[in-house]
Amino acid sequence: MKRRTLGQNFNVSAIGLGCMGMSHGYGRPKDTQEMKEFLAQAVDFGYTFFDTAEVYGTDDDPHANEKLLGEALAPFRHQIQIGTKFGIYFDTTATTTNKPIRTDARPETIRRSVEDSLRRLRTDYIDIYYQHRQDPQVPVEEVAGVMAELIEEGKILHWGLSEVDADTLRRAHAVCPVTAVQNRFSMMARWYESMFPVLEELQVGLVAFSPMANGLLTARYNEHTQFEKETDYRSVMPQFTKENMDKNKELLTYITTLAEAKKATPAQVSLAWMLCKKTWIVPIPGTTNLERMKENGGAADVLLTAEEVAHIDTALATMTMSEVFGGSPVK
Ligand SMILES: NC(=O)c1ccc[n+]([C@@H]2O[C@H](COP(=O)([O-])OP(=O)(O)OC[C@H]3O[C@@H](n4cnc5c(N)ncnc54)[C@H](OP(=O)(O)O)[C@@H]3O)[C@@H](O)[C@H]2O)c1
Repeated sequence: MKRRTLGQNFNVSAIGLGCMGMSHGYGRPKDTQEMKEFLAQAVDFGYTFFDTAEVYGTDDDPHANEKLLGEALAPFRHQIQIGTKFGIYFDTTATTTNKPIRTDARPETIRRSVEDSLRRLRTDYIDIYYQHRQDPQVPVEEVAGVMAELIEEGKILHWGLSEVDADTLRRAHAVCPVTAVQNRFSMMARWYESMFPVLEELQVGLVAFSPMANGLLTARYNEHTQFEKETDYRSVMPQFTKENMDKNKELLTYITTLAEAKKATPAQVSLAWMLCKKTWIVPIPGTTNLERMKENGGAADVLLTAEEVAHIDTALATMTMSEVFGGSPVK
């Protein structure tokens, strides 16, 4: 697969693999052995950038995803890059499908988290360590100070922030240079485009999460698709309700037509659109399926001209589409 550079020198596969859905948020956790084989197949295909977080798991096994990656990727450790995240936990007392998020970025908590993640990931360094959400109680400068120490100690190579705005990024970057932000970005969620000039100015990359609007942009779901209520966040995501599936028909027809013209699939076009926008954007689509992993990885070879990207932008800005999931509430 083609490669990209985030920040000054963090070299990764042009498309990363989002691993959350293997253990968290998209139905029951997938079979561990199958996922270990699947992760090895992803390395074999050319993915080198793997995304996880300390909180991807279930009530019974809250850190399952890091443990899975640790086991599966140990044989490839020095040819791949792992991103993980700290600074939040879920309110498991809530009865909602997607649990509210609580933040904790106190230096002592980060110190504990990094040691636990290193142990579960079976490694002595994390390639990129992200603050998952801002903690209103802990100034970002203090978090950045801890990141500088962890870099100095060799425990992390790079750091980043997730769901962060331009002002907070600037403050963080002034204390310890940031390599990438990981923000929600897709054809349905374009609000961080206003931050692009700042990312360019600071030379900070964008790791785009939920780049296919949680799967909707693949055009493989319809109003009859059923998601398990208790375990699958998609059962409460606005873009998948019957009414909104109707509203999104124009968008899905548009992407399908574009895909046909490019001899590609809707999933590939939705990823190619952001890859061709900026050289410093790296999407991390999530999948647990071999064919879909290869399909998504193939998006790195789908080329759109600047003119085509601009046309798509205009069309997206003017067509009707529903609201898209914006994340679990931070309380
Ligand atoms: N920083 C944050 O706060 C944050 C939040 C959310 C996610 N993330 C990260 O971003 C990654 C990706 O985001 P995401 O998983 O929420 O959304 P996404 O990548 O937009 O969509 C993933 C969903 O689409 C399905 N899918 C993937 N490829 C497909 C294809 N070619 N055709 C049909 N369906 C396809 C997957 O199901 P199958 O498994 O069945 O293919 C999965 O349900 C996560 O894994 C996680 O690592 C970070």
